[in-house]
Amino acid sequence: MLAGWWPADPMDCSRRMCLLLLLLALGLCLQRGAHAEHVRDLEVSEGAPVGTRVGYIGDGSSSDSGPPYLIVPVPGSAVDSDLAIEQTTGEMRTKVPLDRETRASYSLVAIPLSGENVRVVVRVLDENDNAPTFPTQVMGIEFPENTPRDVKRTLHPARDLDLGIYNTQRYNIVSGNVNNAFRLSSHRERDGVLYLDLQINGFLDRETTAVYSLLIEALDGGNPPLRGFMTVNITIQDVNDNQPIFNQSRYFATIPENATVGTSVLQVFATDTDAGENGQVVYSINRRQSDREGMFRIDSTTGLIAVNRPLDFETKEVHELVVVARDHGMQPLETTAFVSIRVTDVNDNQPTINVIFLSDDATPKISESAQPGEFVARISVNDPDSKTEYSNVNVTLQGGDGRFGLATRDNIIYLVIVSLPLDRELQPNYTLSVIATDTGNPPLHASRTFHLRVTDINDNAPEFERMVYYANVLEVADPGTSVFQIHAVDRDEGNNSALAYSILDTPDTHSTWFQIDPRSGLITTRSHIDCETDPVPQLTVMARDNGSPPLSSTATVLVTIHDVNDNEPIFDQSFYNVSVAENEPVGRCILKVGSVSIHVCV
Ligand SMILES: *[C@@H]1O[C@H](CO)[C@@H](O)[C@H](O)[C@H]1NC(C)=O
Ligand SMILES: *[C@@H]1O[C@H](CO)[C@@H](O)[C@H](O)[C@H]1NC(C)=O
Ligand SMILES: *[C@@H]1O[C@H](CO)[C@@H](O)[C@H](O)[C@H]1NC(C)=O
Ligand SMILES: *[C@@H]1O[C@H](CO)[C@@H](O)[C@H](O)[C@H]1NC(C)=O
Ligand SMILES: *[C@@H]1O[C@H](CO)[C@@H](O)[C@H](O)[C@H]1NC(C)=O
Ligand SMILES: *[C@@H]1O[C@H](CO)[C@@H](O)[C@H](O)[C@H]1NC(C)=O
Ligand SMILES: *[C@@H]1O[C@H](CO)[C@@H](O)[C@H](O)[C@H]1NC(C)=O
Repeated sequence: MLAGWWPADPMDCSRRMCLLLLLLALGLCLQRGAHAEHVRDLEVSEGAPVGTRVGYIGDGSSSDSGPPYLIVPVPGSAVDSDLAIEQTTGEMRTKVPLDRETRASYSLVAIPLSGENVRVVVRVLDENDNAPTFPTQVMGIEFPENTPRDVKRTLHPARDLDLGIYNTQRYNIVSGNVNNAFRLSSHRERDGVLYLDLQINGFLDRETTAVYSLLIEALDGGNPPLRGFMTVNITIQDVNDNQPIFNQSRYFATIPENATVGTSVLQVFATDTDAGENGQVVYSINRRQSDREGMFRIDSTTGLIAVNRPLDFETKEVHELVVVARDHGMQPLETTAFVSIRVTDVNDNQPTINVIFLSDDATPKISESAQPGEFVARISVNDPDSKTEYSNVNVTLQGGDGRFGLATRDNIIYLVIVSLPLDRELQPNYTLSVIATDTGNPPLHASRTFHLRVTDINDNAPEFERMVYYANVLEVADPGTSVFQIHAVDRDEGNNSALAYSILDTPDTHSTWFQIDPRSGLITTRSHIDCETDPVPQLTVMARDNGSPPLSSTATVLVTIHDVNDNEPIFDQSFYNVSVAENEPVGRCILKVGSVSIHVCV
């Protein structure tokens, strides 16, 4: 190898000889080098074209004998491969483009034929041949939104193999810095690296800008500077800083009252600009402030409000709900909105009929003495669907055989009136029906039936079955003996038909022989009676009712007094055969038997 760069010597020696010489020279060199050598420093710029002269080994002033030199590279120094050395002149040139960053210097020992050895050090001068380089092309970092200003994160610094001014000098944000949200700061450490920090320059709001992609350049001090680039992807992390917002502050809906449970009424909708759970909205109805009865329900995820219980227009026309949208953040935020639900009327209520009876005790009754036109009852029709008295309702009356009618002046209040005279004794009560028909579609009917009692007046006198009654009594009858029971009827009722009997005190008719029980009408003898004085006394019996004023009638009772003989009567024949016409009046004598007059009567 050494023989390779030791050119053919003018001296005629064989290769073996040369090797021997070399070893000798080397021995000399090492021996002398340890004691006597001087140093020759040379410089060459890296990247200089191949063949660039680095310089001469000898500088002419030193104590060596000058060229030729025996060149001995310091082990490990790539002198052989990178430098071309002319032994005869000591001229050194580059053999390849040098790169300081690969090898910053070359060392060799040049051994002259005599004198001191020369230690040659070739330093490669730095050129700006390296750009600042980031370790990664992209890096990702995260900041929570609302992070205070000036908070910083360390970014990977760029490194530049060049030295000094040619090393990294500064960093810039080339693009992506929306609203100047970030700035860079840097500082150089002892290791020569220019360290880089990213600082918050303004206010981070994820809802405005969630992601930044900054292109950062690193520049060295060359002229022109060389650059390296890195993309920094910044993710802004969500903080629950936004409450849900309804798309309307008030919602309105109408629903018919017959809507079945489960019917959807309307949908509310709220958005939350936060991300993830912080932006996830759940809906509810504030039951403390509204709809305590739970008439409605809301789907917590869709916001769909539906009927929860049967509605009734007549109970509540408008339901005001307070609806809450709440997010799912750790500390949830919420908003409320108002929902007005108007329940519309469906003709589901019968008109109701109110009847006020105009009698003294407000019961359904009318005196039989009532004159046509007299009032029986006041009727009004009330429609719960409109909560007002109905004017549009058609009211009719049924029953009463034409003896009653309806009168109205305003089609609101109706009066039941008597149309024809009444007679309790003919018909003591009537079943009347008031029927109301409304104008709904379909029309609805309501009716109210009542029994009207016709009250009595004392318009009937007591009546006896006959004008004349016949009675018999034995002359010997003791006082108090029953003679006859008389009976009268009065078609009135109550006291108007409660009868009291009496015997009118008529002179010459011997009415004082008799008395009558006023209740039962039983006529008894009062004293002894005398056939000879009057065989057929005549009584005038009066029946009198308890009406006010009372009415009375009379009947005649003919009492036949039978004379009693103590002797046994003798019949003049033992068999009597008599024929009687069927239409003989009662009391007519048809046969007289024996010497004592025994009348056989019908
Ligand atoms: C960085 O952001 C850019 C632009 O948004 C995107 O194209 C790229 O994929 C991102 N890189 C990484 C590693 O997130
Ligand atoms: C509600 O009432 C209206 C009118 O009577 C009727 O047409 C409709 O079918 C009813 N709806 C229900 C759900 O009953
Ligand atoms: C609000 O959201 C509801 C439900 O999605 C929708 O029906 C309604 O039209 C929206 N209102 C407005 C003003 O956009
Ligand atoms: C009441 O009924 C009668 C006959 O049925 C009819 O002619 C009249 O128009 C009705 N009135 C109303 C207000 O419905
Ligand atoms: C009405 O009179 C009838 C006989 O005409 C009778 O059967 C009915 O019980 C009476 N009703 C009332 C409520 O007085
Ligand atoms: C019926 O007459 C009796 C006795 O005169 C009287 O006490 C009673 O109050 C009368 N009853 C009625 C319903 O008038
Ligand atoms: C009663 O007389 C009638 C006719 O005078 C007669 O037909 C009848 O047989 C008689 N009866 C007796 C029981 O004699």
